[in-house]
Amino acid sequence: MIAATRVVIVGGGHMGLAIIRGLLGRRPGREVVVVECSAARRKLLADLDGLTVAPHLEVADGDFVVLAIPPQVFGDFAKAERHLFTPQTPVLSVMAGLTADSIARALGTSQVVRSIPNTPSEVFEGMSVYYAGPQVSQETTEQAEALLKVIGRSLRVDDEELVDDATAICGGGPAFVSYIVDAFCQFATTCGFSEAAGREMAVQVFGGTAALIEQSGKPPMQLCREVMTPNGTTERGITAFDAAELKSSILAALVASAQRSRELARHHQRECTVG
Ligand SMILES: NC(=O)c1ccc[n+]([C@@H]2O[C@H](COP(=O)([O-])OP(=O)(O)OC[C@H]3O[C@@H](n4cnc5c(N)ncnc54)[C@H](OP(=O)(O)O)[C@@H]3O)[C@@H](O)[C@H]2O)c1
Repeated sequence: MIAATRVVIVGGGHMGLAIIRGLLGRRPGREVVVVECSAARRKLLADLDGLTVAPHLEVADGDFVVLAIPPQVFGDFAKAERHLFTPQTPVLSVMAGLTADSIARALGTSQVVRSIPNTPSEVFEGMSVYYAGPQVSQETTEQAEALLKVIGRSLRVDDEELVDDATAICGGGPAFVSYIVDAFCQFATTCGFSEAAGREMAVQVFGGTAALIEQSGKPPMQLCREVMTPNGTTERGITAFDAAELKSSILAALVASAQRSRELARHHQRECTVG
């Protein structure tokens, strides 16, 4: 599946662990290594069968490196580890708000694929959007895509700007959806349902609706209208949404979130360049 000698994942936190679990679950046929600076985290990771845990990064010829460390520490990481990278070392970054170019320049490799995955990756239901520039080889792109596919679905974009928009849609999406699910749960408990019952109903409604939208192929607003009997209960609810301008609020939240991703990219880029 992934034609590299080893897959070396730097950072064994939430996202790193999701990728590790996905890889180990698919019998990758090559060594999976995680480099993790936290001793407590290394102890936890050591329990995973088939995983090599290391405190320091080493990069051998043919290795594929996945960067899953926080973007704030990347500048220092690059300064300390740049000597380990060659101009051809393939790298997949899952770091939010760091451009492929700034990572490539900081590490001295031209082979950087930038992606934005999301937390449902932990249950292999992730949605990752990735960008591979024209200088990235087909082999590196295919390896990166295969890696992202172990944690869910992936979508390639030709314009890196879209990764910032995808950071709002996919990266932040699980938080936005959970925020709304929480309102459903809150209403259920206010009505007298137990917390568990409220949670079960809300989760099934969201999961079931997602499956219906996907499998029917119908536009979401068509499915919305199909539930809205004139003067019925759903119509009353949607009228309340419209009165509160809910759709405009959601659109404004997504615009603000994508804007923040661009701000962070500019900030980190300055840090990588200045440092
Ligand atoms: N979680 C998400 O929803 C999500 C979505 C899209 C993208 N991402 C990106 O994924 C990356 C990781 O996020 P996360 O949520 O997995 O964060 P996390 O849980 O904090 O994991 C990061 C891990 O990297 C370790 N680390 C820090 N510096 C290191 C170094 N120099 N060498 C080796 N390990 C190091 C940290 O150890 P310490 O705790 O000891 O510092 C921590 O265990 C971030 O860049 C984030 O932007 C996350």
